[in-house]
Amino acid sequence: MFSIGIITASDKGSRGEREDVSGRTIATMLAGIGEVKHYVVVPDEREALSGEIINMADALAIDLILTTGGTGLSPRDVTPEATLAVVDRLVPGIPEAMRAKSLEVTSRAMLSRAVAGIRGRTLIINLPGSPKGVKECLEVVLPALEHGLAIMK
Ligand code: MTE
Repeated sequence: MFSIGIITASDKGSRGEREDVSGRTIATMLAGIGEVKHYVVVPDEREALSGEIINMADALAIDLILTTGGTGLSPRDVTPEATLAVVDRLVPGIPEAMRAKSLEVTSRAMLSRAVAGIRGRTLIINLPGSPKGVKECLEVVLPALEHGLAIMK
């Protein structure tokens, strides 16, 4: 079993104005491969997001971090930049696969700027903000996820 961290990027969620269905969806879908060790809701701010990724990867040695939200085109969407700032290596195939599969469902999938990368021994994957987007993208990633995480150990 792997340790999992969830970061929900949401201005409203961080103020307690929106229930975090997407974060819960991630936890439920990943129950078979690991345990959620840390879960936070942070505002759509680069420093806060990067800081949480660093904390979970370096201090808590979490195997897999999933972010949800903040990957779109709004000026407040900064999750990809916050992720890129702190990863050592990119894993482009993951967002490529998510977008390719998601485009079969919605043309809006091309509006996701999600990235995936590795910091140390931690894999970080950006997911869209909506529960539907989370579910559809995680379904794409899940079949390859355990193998990827095992290689990183
Ligand atoms: N991918 C899937 N599979 N399903 C979706 O519903 N929504 C898209 C896209 N990716 C979506 C998806 C939409 S509408 C947007 S704006 C982008 O993800 C970015 O979403 P975010 O800003 O909430 O991260």
